[in-house]
Amino acid sequence: MVTTRLRTQVAIVGAGPAGLTLSHLLAAAGIESVVLENRSRGYVEERIRAGVLEQGTVEVLDAAGVGERMHREGIVHHGVHLQFAGERHRIALSDLADGRSILIYGQTEVVKDLIEARLDAGLELRFGVADVRVGDLETDVPCVRFTHEHEQFELQCDAIVGADGFHGVCRPTIEHHLRVFSREYPFAWLGILAAAPPSSDELVYARHERGFALLSLRSPERSRLYLQCAADERLDEWPDARIWEELQRRVSIDGSTLVEGEVLEKGITPMRSFVAEPMQHGRLFLAGDSAHIVPPTGAKGLNLAVADVAVLAEALIDSYNGGSRTGLAEYSRTCLRRVWRAEHFSYWMTTMLHQLGDDPFDNQLQLSQLRYIVSSEAAARTFAENYVGLPLGHRAVAAQ
Ligand code: FAD
Ligand code: PHB
Repeated sequence: MVTTRLRTQVAIVGAGPAGLTLSHLLAAAGIESVVLENRSRGYVEERIRAGVLEQGTVEVLDAAGVGERMHREGIVHHGVHLQFAGERHRIALSDLADGRSILIYGQTEVVKDLIEARLDAGLELRFGVADVRVGDLETDVPCVRFTHEHEQFELQCDAIVGADGFHGVCRPTIEHHLRVFSREYPFAWLGILAAAPPSSDELVYARHERGFALLSLRSPERSRLYLQCAADERLDEWPDARIWEELQRRVSIDGSTLVEGEVLEKGITPMRSFVAEPMQHGRLFLAGDSAHIVPPTGAKGLNLAVADVAVLAEALIDSYNGGSRTGLAEYSRTCLRRVWRAEHFSYWMTTMLHQLGDDPFDNQLQLSQLRYIVSSEAAARTFAENYVGLPLGHRAVAAQ
C-alpha cells in the first residue's frame, strides 16, 4: 500500500473532551492541527460519562468558542448534598467558595458541540482511523502513522498530543520513560440514565451501610443515578427493578421516595486512581485520561482533561509566537500540581463515602469525617473549594 505524507503543526490523537478542546484553542490562535479518532462520530457523541463542569472548565469552553448551547441548556448549581446516617445536609458551595458554582451539562453535549464547531469550521477531524502509531518523538519532526478508509498515512508535525484516554496508544509507547502511580478499588459504579425528573434539585452523595449512591441529573426530565456495586458484577445481575429498589433503599429519606422512570442506558464503571509522570516525552505530550485517572466520586476527570489542554494550548502558542519553550518545558509540572490535588480529593471522597468492607472502625471514621464537614465551616469550605475546583488563570479565559 502506498503511504500518503501529510503535514500539520500539532497532531492530536483522540477526539474526547481533551483533544477536541485543544484543537479549538489552537485554531483560535491560528495554529493548525489534525484530530485523529479511532471510533465513529456516533459512538463518541453517545458515550455517557461526566455531567459536572467546574467554572474553570466552562470558561475554557467559552474561550474555545463553544459555550452558546452550554449556557442555554446547562443548569447552574450552587450547592450539593451529603447524606449519611439518615440525614441530608446541604453544602452551600457558592457561599463557601468565593461565589463559584458548577454547571450540569453532559459530556455527550460538550463533545457534540466541540465536534459540530470543528466540522462547521472546515477543520480536520478524522473518525474511524486505525493502526495509530506515534514515532520519531525525540526528533524535531515527530510523526503519527495511521490508516484511514483503506489508505495509509504518515502525518508529520511539530508536536503530538496524546489525548487518547486511558486505553489509548500514546502512553504505552513511552511508558518505559514514565513513573506510574496507581490504586484499584474493590468496587465499581453501576450508572443509569432514566427518563424521570430529578428527585432532588441538587446532587446528593449518599453514604449507606449497603453502599454508596449518587443522585445526579442531565435535564429537568432526565435523572442520572449511580450505585456502588462489586468490581466483578455483571449488568445482567441488575434488572431495572433491582436497581430502583436498591436506589430507594440507599437514598430515600424522611418518607419521600425517588421518582422512577424508564431506564434509557446502564453501564458499570470500574474505579481507579492513576497518574503517569511526567506527562511528556520528547515531542509527545499526554493530556487528560491518557495521563491520569480519578475515581468519579469527585467529578474531576473531565475537568482535569480540560485544565491540561488549557495549559498546553498556552505553552504551544508561546512556542510558536516568539519561540519561548519555557511553557512546554513546564507543562507536566504545572499540570501535575492540579492533578495530584484532584487525585487526593477524589480518593478522599471515595474512601469517605463507599462501603469499604465490614470493618466497624472504617465506618466510624467515615461518619466522623462526614459529621465534621457538615458541622465545621472550615471543613465545609475545604470540601467546597476542592469540589468547585481551583481557578484556572488561563490567558484565553482572562482575555475574554
Ligand atoms: P476520553 O474522553 O477517554 O477521550 C479519548 C478519546 O481517544 C476517545 O474518543 C477514544 O475513542 C480515543 N482513542 C482511544 N484510543 C485511540 C487510538 N488508538 N487512536 C485514536 N483515538 C483513540 N469527569 C468529570 O469531570 N465529572 C464527572 O461528573 C465525571 N463523571 C464520570 C462518570 C463516569 C461514569 C465516567 C466513566 C467518567 C466520569 N468522568 C467525570 C471522567 C471523564 O468522563 C473523563 O475524565 C474524560 O472523558 C476524559 O477526557 P479525555 O478527552 O482525556 O479522554
Ligand atoms: C454525573 O452526573 O454523571 C456525575 C455527577 C457527579 C459525580 C460523578 C458523575 O461525582
